[in-house]
Amino acid sequence: MMLGKLPFLQTILSIHAASVDFDSACDNIASQAASIANTTVFFSEVVPAGTNLSFVNPTCDAVGVASSQVTLADMCRVALNVSTSDQSGIAMEAWLPRNWTGRFLSTGNGGLAGCIQYADMAYGAGLGFATVGANNGHNGSSGQPFYNNSEVLEDFVFRSIQTNVLVGKEITKMFYGSPHNFSYYFGCSTGGRQGFQSVQDFPDYFDGVLAGSPGFNFNSLMSYFGRFFEILGTPDSPTFITAEQWSGLIHENVLKQCDTIDGVADGIIEDPNLCDYKPEELICAPGSNSSDCLTATQVEALRQVFSPMYGLHGNLMFPRQQPGGEDTAYVETLYTGGTPISFASDWFHYVVYDPSFNVTKLNLTDYQYAEDLNPFNIATFNGDLSAFKARNGKVIIYHGQADIMISPIETELYYNHVARTMALPPTELDDFMRFFRISGMSHCYAGDGAWQFGQHLSAVGGNLTAENLNPDQNALTALVRWVEEGIAPDTLLGTKYVNDTPELGVEFSRRHCRYPLRNTYDRMGNSSVPESWSCQ
Ligand SMILES: *[C@@H]1O[C@H](CO)[C@@H](O)[C@H](O)[C@H]1NC(C)=O
Ligand SMILES: *[C@@H]1O[C@H](CO)[C@@H](O)[C@H](O)[C@H]1NC(C)=O
Ligand SMILES: *[C@@H]1O[C@H](CO)[C@@H](O)[C@H](O)[C@H]1NC(C)=O
Ligand SMILES: *[C@@H]1O[C@H](CO)[C@@H](O)[C@H](O)[C@H]1NC(C)=O
Ligand SMILES: *[C@@H]1O[C@H](CO)[C@@H](O)[C@H](O)[C@H]1NC(C)=O
Ligand SMILES: *[C@@H]1O[C@H](CO)[C@@H](O)[C@H](O)[C@H]1NC(C)=O
Ligand SMILES: *[C@@H]1O[C@H](CO)[C@@H](O)[C@H](O)[C@H]1NC(C)=O
Ligand SMILES: *[C@@H]1O[C@H](CO)[C@@H](O)[C@H](O)[C@H]1NC(C)=O
Ligand SMILES: *[C@@H]1O[C@H](CO)[C@@H](O)[C@H](O)[C@H]1NC(C)=O
Ligand SMILES: *[C@@H]1O[C@H](CO)[C@@H](O)[C@H](O)[C@H]1NC(C)=O
Ligand SMILES: *[C@@H]1O[C@H](CO)[C@@H](O)[C@H](O)[C@H]1NC(C)=O
Ligand SMILES: *[C@@H]1O[C@H](CO)[C@@H](O)[C@H](O)[C@H]1NC(C)=O
Repeated sequence: MMLGKLPFLQTILSIHAASVDFDSACDNIASQAASIANTTVFFSEVVPAGTNLSFVNPTCDAVGVASSQVTLADMCRVALNVSTSDQSGIAMEAWLPRNWTGRFLSTGNGGLAGCIQYADMAYGAGLGFATVGANNGHNGSSGQPFYNNSEVLEDFVFRSIQTNVLVGKEITKMFYGSPHNFSYYFGCSTGGRQGFQSVQDFPDYFDGVLAGSPGFNFNSLMSYFGRFFEILGTPDSPTFITAEQWSGLIHENVLKQCDTIDGVADGIIEDPNLCDYKPEELICAPGSNSSDCLTATQVEALRQVFSPMYGLHGNLMFPRQQPGGEDTAYVETLYTGGTPISFASDWFHYVVYDPSFNVTKLNLTDYQYAEDLNPFNIATFNGDLSAFKARNGKVIIYHGQADIMISPIETELYYNHVARTMALPPTELDDFMRFFRISGMSHCYAGDGAWQFGQHLSAVGGNLTAENLNPDQNALTALVRWVEEGIAPDTLLGTKYVNDTPELGVEFSRRHCRYPLRNTYDRMGNSSVPESWSCQ
């Protein structure tokens, strides 16, 4: 596909070359940025496109952040420290592309981690954004730095992003000699929560926000993680269910009951809200082979996993898991580790209580206590987005329907909460906030569904081709088009490649609908092509 056939792509890739000499500007920015309050610059250096950068942040690979990244654009890389109090600070980087489009982009983080998402940085800079990322106030994947240091916790909750954005915009202006024209954010999971915290509390920061699988209702999300251990126990518990039982027996039974509700037997439950899964079907008949069935005790545990979590006062704390994601690797971190997942144990050890607390004893009393604690309002559940709407901001949310790390129902609950708080129906919310439900997608990316729609560098196959950047199938460029040209995305076209490998060709593609519309198969067409589906 030629650029010339897509006028919008000429816009997104068009360049406003810095009027200053790039290399000397990159030298100079180190001393210029050092004049920003509370800032220490480590270095600035010109990095050509195609450079394989290495990073030292030892435990970040544990949360899926690679220790190397190939750059996709010529850029000036600036690394600095900004203190946020006398006992806290952020390490941040600005990647300033030679071919700048006049746009600013802030990236987010993941889990409890203090890891710059370098793939997001490379993607943003490759698209011509002046791109910034920070370590969220601490280094590595552990929550230990929060202990006895509420300043570090405050950075994690919101101040790292806030500082990163304010300093990043300043550096962008210093470097190019003119301020950005448009400001964007993108991130997933904790990054989705950080994006929404800006929409809620710092509405003037961004013109456009792309928020994936947001960690809304964060306190109870941590408890929800802890509850899986409470329900399922250690491998010697009668309630324990093995990884093989989850991905084989249970996943197949879920598909048997629910895959064809949407009219297509393709392993994807288009709308898992319609799946009223009945695990009792798996109870072993007397004398039957126990590898093909579960005990009544295991089935009761399974029923609880697929049930909402209520607090001490009957309040809904977190919705049920959606059926359909039992074949993903997250089963092993969430359900079969024989201990509460580290996000939950770190949160209770270092924020809610102290390291002496025995997390294997977590129960409802603790969950309610944690929800009420809500440090720095990390719940991120304010439903009044009127300031963001009034400044003409746009937000695109996406959430995989087979995401078992964060139940996608939570995003529906938040969306409905915004509608009620602002007294606006979905047709009006569509003016500034659109939520796309991505069938068959796991957490942020990957899964059996058509999950590639430009939300991450891996979701363009690492390849910034014109086709991959087409805003009809790229959530990030769709956001830019919405903000700058007023063309809102009706759907997001997702692609599933054979073995997730673009070189092997397209297996199928599907247009994902915005909530509350439901993707509906017309039952006559070829289900592998998007034209056979419509949003109703
Ligand atoms: C980049 O370098 C790392 C080692 O630092 C290596 O493992 C990785 O394969 C390299 N990536 C590419 C694309 O060459
Ligand atoms: C910058 O843009 C020019 C003009 O479009 C292009 O020829 C060049 O390859 C781009 N450079 C980089 C590093 O992206
Ligand atoms: C610098 O950091 C101190 C706290 O260490 C803070 O009070 C002050 O507001 C910061 N200055 C700026 C300009 O952010
Ligand atoms: C960077 O900031 C952190 C946290 O405030 C601090 O511990 C560290 O010493 C700083 N490093 C440098 C080189 O300034
Ligand atoms: C910002 O927009 C103005 C007006 O369209 C344009 O003249 C200018 O080149 C843009 N600046 C950058 C850095 O792209
Ligand atoms: C995090 O790592 C950066 C880069 O290595 C370092 O400068 C900074 O001091 C570290 N921050 C903390 C809080 O240890
Ligand atoms: C944490 O703070 C408490 C009270 O300020 C103090 O008693 C305790 O020793 C501190 N623990 C650590 C590990 O710093
Ligand atoms: C159950 O079935 C498996 C595989 O079908 C077989 O290997 C195993 O021996 C059977 N166990 C019993 C108790 O029949
Ligand atoms: C935590 O509690 C579990 C069971 O309630 C017990 O088996 C374990 O020994 C306890 N761990 C510690 C470190 O006390
Ligand atoms: C939770 O456990 C504590 C003891 O660790 C107990 O006092 C409390 O009653 C329990 N709460 C519930 C709801 O079971
Ligand atoms: C990028 O696209 C080119 C041209 O379509 C293709 O040859 C190459 O294999 C792709 N690279 C990746 C990593 O998908
Ligand atoms: C359905 O569409 C897919 C993708 O275009 C194609 O590969 C397949 O052959 C089609 N199947 C039928 C029965 O036409």
